[in-house]
Amino acid sequence: MNTIKIPKHIAIMMDGNGRWAKRKFMPRTFGHIQGGKTLEAICKNAYDLGVEYLTIYAFSTENWSRPKDEVEGLMKLLKEYLNRSIETSIKNNMRVKIIGNIKKLDNEFQSSIINLEKATTNCTGLKFQLALNYGGKDEIIRTTQKIALECLNNKLDASAINEDLFASHMDTSDIPDPDLFIRTGGEKRLSNFLLWEMAYTELYFTDVLWPDFKKDDLKKAIYDFSKRDRRYGNVIE
Ligand code: IPE
Ligand code: IPE
Ligand code: MG
Repeated sequence: MNTIKIPKHIAIMMDGNGRWAKRKFMPRTFGHIQGGKTLEAICKNAYDLGVEYLTIYAFSTENWSRPKDEVEGLMKLLKEYLNRSIETSIKNNMRVKIIGNIKKLDNEFQSSIINLEKATTNCTGLKFQLALNYGGKDEIIRTTQKIALECLNNKLDASAINEDLFASHMDTSDIPDPDLFIRTGGEKRLSNFLLWEMAYTELYFTDVLWPDFKKDDLKKAIYDFSKRDRRYGNVIE
């Protein structure tokens, strides 16, 4: 009997939307729309396979340097996604959290985030983190600022700063570190994603472009993970 280990937390960098669209002689935004559909399907697939936490990189602190038109298109799509997600997340019992520097997003965006997080706070199914305007270095800097402020206000002694304390001040404070990282689209780098949290994460790269990524591709990544010598992770028959 085959026993496979299901990672408790998977982090995914969805990459390749632009190239996918280009191959179809379509604008990059078409790829982002299709990528959004893939995301909705993969959330469901991951939960059905027994994954408890899923963290998705949707927009990095570096992505602002893309052409203005593309950034505006992406922002519009992401806002629509967040608004639509209230209904679908409740239906699918998904708790949604946004990680990243959300103060840099416009007011409308921030209220959509607050509404979605509030509406799904009691959901008990998949714990879904969406990284928006997220950068690993930026998260470490914001965390350091929070801790420095507590020290300045005499709420904390600098000698009490250790890994646990640092982690408890991060965006991901109540979320276990990812067991498996998946990057689609062929590039083999971390691109500033969860630098602190992925210190010990297993890495998996695939050439499949994100809009083409299906349940079977997710299973493949999980099987690959399962073959590695892990010290933790859920075990299912
Ligand atoms: C990933 O697809 C989506 C985001 C970064 C928002 P890309 O837009 O990076 O697509 P490629 O890598 O250019 O194909
Ligand atoms: C990756 O962005 C970040 C996301 C998928 C959100 P890119 O596709 O632009 O990759 P890099 O920054 O060139 O590595
Ligand atoms: Mg890319």
